[in-house]
Amino acid sequence: MSVPPSARQAARLTIASIARMHAAGERIAMLTAYDYPTARTLDDAGIPMLLVGDSLGQVMLGYDSTVRVTMTEMLHHTKSVVRGTRHALVVADMPFLSYGVTPEASLENAGLLMSEGGAGAVKLEGGERSARTIELIVRSGIPVMSHIGLTPQSVHQLGHRVQGKTVQAGRQLIADAIAVQQAGAFAVVLELVPEQLAAAITDRLNIPTIGIGAGAGCSGQVQVVTDMLGMSAEFTPKHARHYAELYTIVKAAAEAYEADVIAGTFPGPEQTQRMEDATLAEILTQSPAARPEMVEVSRGIPLDRDL
Ligand code: KIV
Repeated sequence: MSVPPSARQAARLTIASIARMHAAGERIAMLTAYDYPTARTLDDAGIPMLLVGDSLGQVMLGYDSTVRVTMTEMLHHTKSVVRGTRHALVVADMPFLSYGVTPEASLENAGLLMSEGGAGAVKLEGGERSARTIELIVRSGIPVMSHIGLTPQSVHQLGHRVQGKTVQAGRQLIADAIAVQQAGAFAVVLELVPEQLAAAITDRLNIPTIGIGAGAGCSGQVQVVTDMLGMSAEFTPKHARHYAELYTIVKAAAEAYEADVIAGTFPGPEQTQRMEDATLAEILTQSPAARPEMVEVSRGIPLDRDL
């Protein structure tokens, strides 16, 4: 995969690097990451922005929505992603109700994701309704990425539908995009928006739009890494393309490993340590010859006794 020239640099990228990429007309590739090894791999591949999304809830923690994700969980995963990266700008999602309730809590939680989590920016959902919160956080020196269109934390209100398809909803989405730019967001995620509307929003903004299910006319794209890698057996959203079939690969590997263990062919000589036969013989002359009586450790009952 080719890495955009401005992403090939030693230092960690910042929102200024992203602004430069955008000004140079480079499309920006972003992926989610939730753990150290994946973050390392994506960073080595030159992905300039990694999102510790609150999709963490469904993708890694098995919750049924993002709404259950806590600050503690976001911090835990953000730290591991930051430790796995040297170059990428790490953006951490602010979880449900960690912002927008009181200004103090919004600021404190954004600050924690930066100071404790090590993120380079935070992301929060909502257009006009979140503009004041964005402004407050940005004024405190914390870069904010906005997220409009389908906002998963409001899925109980919005459902999983394409957003902005009526005149009123489309106008509202444009107003939302302009409001978050004015509030100081450095980029805006557009999720599940018709491609023509997403392109029109992109044309009207100075900051980059990062699309997911919003067509190729955005300034960049973000995908959930497990969708991109084909890690789910059940469901792939319409907007995702599999660049690998990891579910199939990992399952086949696990089956092959189990078969080798059962057959006694793993570990083989390459995975095995040996010692001097003479040393072993000496050890064994000093050791008891017989196996001790087998007992169930927890209850001290001989295993061959009928219960
Ligand atoms: O949490 C997430 O993964 C996201 C992306 C869908 C943009 O917010």
